[in-house]
Amino acid sequence: MSIDYAERIPNNVELGSNRTLQRALEQWQPAFLNWWKEMGPTDFNAADVYLRTAISVDSKGWANYGHVRMPDYRWGIFLAEPEHDRRVGFGDDLGEPAWQQVPGEHRSTLRRLIVTQGDTEPASVEQQRLLGHTAPSLYDLRNLFQVNVEEGRHLWAMVYLLHAYFGRDGREEAEQLLERHSGDPDKPRILTTFNEPISDWLSFFMFTFFTDRDGKFQLKSLAESSFDPLARTCRFMLTEEAHHMFVGDTGISRVTKRTLEVMRELGADEPEAIRRAGAIDLPTIQRYMNFWFSSSLDLFGSEASSNAAAYFAQGIKGRPDEKKYDDHVLSAATFSLEVPDGAGGIRIDRVPMRNAMNEVVRNSYVEDCERGLARWNRLIEAAGHAFRFALPSTRTPMNAATPPTTR
Ligand SMILES: [Fe+2]
Ligand SMILES: [Fe+2]
Repeated sequence: MSIDYAERIPNNVELGSNRTLQRALEQWQPAFLNWWKEMGPTDFNAADVYLRTAISVDSKGWANYGHVRMPDYRWGIFLAEPEHDRRVGFGDDLGEPAWQQVPGEHRSTLRRLIVTQGDTEPASVEQQRLLGHTAPSLYDLRNLFQVNVEEGRHLWAMVYLLHAYFGRDGREEAEQLLERHSGDPDKPRILTTFNEPISDWLSFFMFTFFTDRDGKFQLKSLAESSFDPLARTCRFMLTEEAHHMFVGDTGISRVTKRTLEVMRELGADEPEAIRRAGAIDLPTIQRYMNFWFSSSLDLFGSEASSNAAAYFAQGIKGRPDEKKYDDHVLSAATFSLEVPDGAGGIRIDRVPMRNAMNEVVRNSYVEDCERGLARWNRLIEAAGHAFRFALPSTRTPMNAATPPTTR
């Protein structure tokens, strides 16, 4: 599964043997580059940036590092190795052969899922386009651009699927992925979180911690899909995504450490004094968490969902790491869902497990986020402060939260 870099579009899908598809993608390529120049990181297109580029889909040693100008980055199409004789891993058709083509009856559902995922990738590049001007360090600047070019590649990944498997409407969707823009009042991105401004670095770290982590769970669910090309695409995207979350995680750690240092130097914890000394006080960091965590929670969809049940039943979208569960059919299993009782309290509803799929995945996401907070809280504890970061309740309605600001 080596990647062919002699081609105009690097790929490991033997693009050269499908002339029609190759031509269609070569037509989309200049539109993508225009988009990058207009909507990607501002003013850095002529700069040499030290970046990693995928050279194989092998889990060991898959990347190459070197200086490139971002517009010359080799965006390409990389799918994880096929699994021999892969089978449907969950739902009503458990054990049937996985799909190498899109089944007609699932065409519009799969297209919508791919478009929704694809839309988030360029959206984040647009959200972050000004951050290069205020990078705290060269290290951060490189990380930002690394994340940006890889989100660009993730767009390629989804556009490949649209072009290769969805004919004319797939090609139209691919064009529209470049026409919607984050925060555009007329043609916004599909999901709210991807229209929120990311105008400072704390927001960037929160986004890469909380929102890229949502991406991880979505990709893991799609990596289980019976539509094998989608599953393989998402498996490879996950290897790149790990770095994005690392950027967020370590970024928030560094901000927190600096705050604690300043608190020690000043011998004070008044937010005003800490800000005057150039750090961000802990309650402000908490407000950023509240916003990005709540916004990212919304991306999982409603807690009881007939769509989620249908995706599972049909084998379209599974649970992350489906193999770790015993029951892959869930025809009788139920889930206890907390719902408002209409009188200010909570009532427990038993719903079919299939309908609670969004909630199951959301709960794993929350646990994953908690691990980050526990690490940061240990730093605060070690510094001798009583303050602790906490995730807001998952019941908080998102419309109650407004974007925070350090200003
Ligand atoms: Fe991505
Ligand atoms: Fe990402």
